[in-house]
Amino acid sequence: MKLVYRGKTKDVYDNGNPGQLHLVFTDRVTKNDAGEIDPGGNNLAEETIPGQGEACLLMTTAIFNEIAVKNIARTHMVGYDLDACSMDVIKAGTFTPGLEWVARWVCTGSFFRRYRMVSGISDGLRLPSPVFEVTLKDDAAGDPLIVPSALTALGVVPASVMEKLWPMNQAVMKAIRELFAAKGLDLWDIKIEWGLDEQGEPLLIDEVSPGCCRAFDATTGQRVVGLELAERFRR
Ligand SMILES: Nc1ncnc2c1ncn2[C@@H]1O[C@H](COP(=O)(O)OP(=O)(O)O)[C@@H](O)[C@H]1O
Ligand SMILES: [Mg+2]
Repeated sequence: MKLVYRGKTKDVYDNGNPGQLHLVFTDRVTKNDAGEIDPGGNNLAEETIPGQGEACLLMTTAIFNEIAVKNIARTHMVGYDLDACSMDVIKAGTFTPGLEWVARWVCTGSFFRRYRMVSGISDGLRLPSPVFEVTLKDDAAGDPLIVPSALTALGVVPASVMEKLWPMNQAVMKAIRELFAAKGLDLWDIKIEWGLDEQGEPLLIDEVSPGCCRAFDATTGQRVVGLELAERFRR
């Protein structure tokens, strides 16, 4: 198979089927600007974590299956092979620039830092209702936040697409949080990606893996990360 693109953690191949791609989830990991291993980091680390690729694929397939079974949205997943750490997907049109769709149930991380001047705020504060955000994928600009009306006004997302995508995004986020709860996990926040199929319809793409979210054990309150988090999604 011909390598089309080498991402930070996934290799993208042409599988010979028109309109499809073959994603290989590798054991490569990213680090942040401080040089620490950080799934949200923008730089590739020198080391790899054995089992990382399989774990990310395992969690992604469990979540995408749930979204498909519940008929909440279409995902790009066509098939997968856990042993080969690979997934065949529908090749999607992506937004320019790329977008990250975020949902938050707890005030923490960059959200807490951004709004720390608000009175009564604290790191770990539970939000009375979920907050949905979109950021532009631009490492150099620090992935700036963008409001939905700006996305449509600037033509990044056509208004007709946004009309469908915005409620669909919220429904997907809710379903993912419920799946986490069923696994004994309290989901604090998460990031997903959307693309468009050939007909311009929204398609849930990329991956939903440990590095995309903050999750805590619902009983102990301890944060659950990495391979341990992914293992919770094994049937
Ligand atoms: N269905 C799809 N169609 C087209 N592009 C996709 C699809 N799913 C994922 N991608 C893109 O393929 C790349 C996957 O490799 P990854 O290692 O995650 O890259 P990155 O370094 O951008 O995070 C990402 O750029 C992602 O946006
Ligand atoms: Mg990625």
